[in-house]
Amino acid sequence: MSFEPKILGFLCNWCSYAGADLAGVSRMQYPPNIRVIRVMCSGRVDPKFIFEALRVGADGVIVLGCHPGDCHYLEGNYEAEKKFDMVTRFLKLIDFDNRVRLDWVSASEGTRYAAIVKEFTDHIKSLGPSPVGGDKPDKEILEELRAIEEAAASDRMRALVGRERKIIEQENVYGEKVSLEKFNEIFDSAIIDEYNRHRILVSLDKDSKSVKDLAIELKIDPSVVLEHMVILKSRGKVDFGELVGITPMFHKI
Ligand code: FES
Repeated sequence: MSFEPKILGFLCNWCSYAGADLAGVSRMQYPPNIRVIRVMCSGRVDPKFIFEALRVGADGVIVLGCHPGDCHYLEGNYEAEKKFDMVTRFLKLIDFDNRVRLDWVSASEGTRYAAIVKEFTDHIKSLGPSPVGGDKPDKEILEELRAIEEAAASDRMRALVGRERKIIEQENVYGEKVSLEKFNEIFDSAIIDEYNRHRILVSLDKDSKSVKDLAIELKIDPSVVLEHMVILKSRGKVDFGELVGITPMFHKI
């Protein structure tokens, strides 16, 4: 039986949804694999929506908004771009970034809408079903996706995404401007750190563990795990309870 992907589309009300409507009333042909959620603006699409859709088994997720410069709320699609950039950087860690796409469709571009949906559906078909969809989802990848979803919602990541333009375009309190290159370096390292910290938290959801247990399970150097534990403890996310021999066992708070 041929694979028919399940694709979720977030379409902005003012451009892309109208473009989809035009494709419909003009009786244009495109694959029926997409299920559409109308949002007021592409900037409204929280990264959590995308991660959650993938976690519950969507084979692909597409976000469509007004062309740059045409957003009904002026800068919503620029915000969408920033958030989407973070989404793809996180998903790259588990080789899922090619299952999501951000694009622009205006209200008069019914043909473009149909073409994008067809192209994306073909692309997802070529990738095959999501490993976390169906009756037997890959548990390891599911946990990684959960860690990503929670890491992306952390205060640190939200602050970095929300303040990127300010950090790059304006001087900070010390009168310094941060270059895009430097910002990307900080951003990528925050992504790795937050991802690993949330993998630790997801793992501690099951039972308490030592630093060594976590290092073996997550394939991270024990000294790096210990650094993360110190930070997670200072954030009030973990604590250690009983000792096994002389080894402290950490649990989630
Ligand atoms: S209203 Fe369409 S992207 Fe903002």
